[in-house]
Amino acid sequence: MRLASCAFYLLSCLTFGLCLVNSSSSDSEVNGAPLPVVLWHGMGDTCCFPFSLGSIKKLIEEHTNGTYVRSLKIGGNLVLDYESGFFIHPNKQVDYVCKQLAQDEKLTDGYNAIGFSQGGQFLRALAQRCPSPPMRTLISLGGQHQGIFGLPKCPTLKQSSCEYITKLLNYAAYEDWVQQQLVQATYWHDPLHETSYRLKSTFLADINNELYVNERYSENLNKLKRLVLVKFLNDTIVQPKESQWFQFYEPGQDQHIQPLNQSKVYENLGLALLEQRKRLHLLSVEGDHLAISKDWFVKHLVPMLLD
Ligand SMILES: *[C@@H]1O[C@H](CO)[C@@H](O)[C@H](O)[C@H]1NC(C)=O
Ligand SMILES: *[C@@H]1O[C@H](CO)[C@@H](O)[C@H](O)[C@H]1NC(C)=O
Ligand SMILES: *[C@@H]1O[C@H](CO)[C@@H](O)[C@H](O)[C@H]1NC(C)=O
Ligand SMILES: *[C@@H]1O[C@H](CO)[C@@H](O)[C@H](O)[C@H]1NC(C)=O
Repeated sequence: MRLASCAFYLLSCLTFGLCLVNSSSSDSEVNGAPLPVVLWHGMGDTCCFPFSLGSIKKLIEEHTNGTYVRSLKIGGNLVLDYESGFFIHPNKQVDYVCKQLAQDEKLTDGYNAIGFSQGGQFLRALAQRCPSPPMRTLISLGGQHQGIFGLPKCPTLKQSSCEYITKLLNYAAYEDWVQQQLVQATYWHDPLHETSYRLKSTFLADINNELYVNERYSENLNKLKRLVLVKFLNDTIVQPKESQWFQFYEPGQDQHIQPLNQSKVYENLGLALLEQRKRLHLLSVEGDHLAISKDWFVKHLVPMLLD
């Protein structure tokens, strides 16, 4: 069965992509030359739609004295880039991006990164697996760092495709072929079947050091100057919402959220150290998934790109 044969419908406002809420903008001071910025789009989005990451790229350029912004395109063209969000295994994507960035001379001295939705956990995997060129500040907007247990909406997919994908996730997420072919299965986190998740998840269990502890991952994560996790308080897509702050259900049930500092990943991935060194920043913003205003972006995130 080839998932890639599902039909797609593009909408002009992407749910896992970005809905920029227009509002007036204010200017920030620019001191010194800001680092380049790398963007990684979400599911159902691409590098370059003008109403989505294209406008973010412009906004950053405007407020950073025209620093170099690279919005990642996975694969050689926009169609592949779009499909990658559903069908190209995150391990492959991270590997591909690692090689691409190594060849980009403008990034040699380091870069800041902003991940949109699943792009947030993909960039974190990049920081952990690919420390050169060095990532400095990583901003995750609505990323699912402890995975998802539920997919209420599928951005840009038609309803029958979405129902099919939801069924796959609910009934077969940990089957080998689904893990290989459906991106969202690789971060499907079933708290009622934690052991299956740990053994079968081909992406999230690995980057979260859940099957075994890869010291290199916590070392590399701690090379970041800042890990900024932005949670959308009224998110109707990420289940549970707390995954955006690296939190998840206490194992064995799907109601109660475990405090971050009591979770295994907190120690095993070096988040404790990151927090101790005041490098873990948890921000929240009112609104649905990725519904961020330009004002908020400029006020809260741009300063982190400037220093
Ligand atoms: C966005 O806001 C700016 C400033 O308030 C305004 O000039 C511009 O026309 C708005 N654009 C849209 C598409 O509403
Ligand atoms: C802005 O960029 C220009 C061109 O790169 C440079 O000449 C100028 O000094 C920069 N200004 C500031 C305030 O960094
Ligand atoms: C969004 O969520 C916050 C926190 O749960 C709540 O206080 C606020 O009223 C919600 N806003 C909207 C527009 O629903
Ligand atoms: C865990 O974090 C909470 C705040 O989220 C804090 O009140 C508590 O003291 C922390 N516990 C430990 C053991 O650090």
